[in-house]
Amino acid sequence: MADTDDLQELFEAARAARDNAHAPYSGFAVGAAVRSESGTIYAGCNVENASYPEGWCAETSAIAQMVSAGEKRITAVLVMGAGERLCTPCGGCRQRLAEFAAPDTPIHIASPERIRQHTTLRGLLPRAFTLLEDPS
Ligand code: THU
Repeated sequence: MADTDDLQELFEAARAARDNAHAPYSGFAVGAAVRSESGTIYAGCNVENASYPEGWCAETSAIAQMVSAGEKRITAVLVMGAGERLCTPCGGCRQRLAEFAAPDTPIHIASPERIRQHTTLRGLLPRAFTLLEDPS
């Protein structure tokens, strides 16, 4: 599959999930899509809560979908926020991604209109703390 098709699929999955975000407190809807080793895309949105710290991020939702489906390796990630400021994964989500993704895994940062920046997990979280060599 061509790289552009791959990105387009991730983009559309993140956008569809973002449409379902539950973000009544921040008003900031986020969608995330991860591609797994099998090629399947898992997407998620942020799910906020009246008890604010209990909300969770879109990346966390997408990872939970992947693991629940029985997969453990992420090969690409796309995160979609909105507005001028780039929606890069928060610190906690960088660590969660590092559990399942290699340092050179591409991370694409998007707005609903377009992909805005490309980086890697290493770029976001250098020298990440990990214990598992190859989770399975
Ligand atoms: N959020 C995400 O879902 N992912 C990110 O990468 C950054 C922040 C959410 C958490 C909260 O629901 C809202 O965005 C505002 O912080």
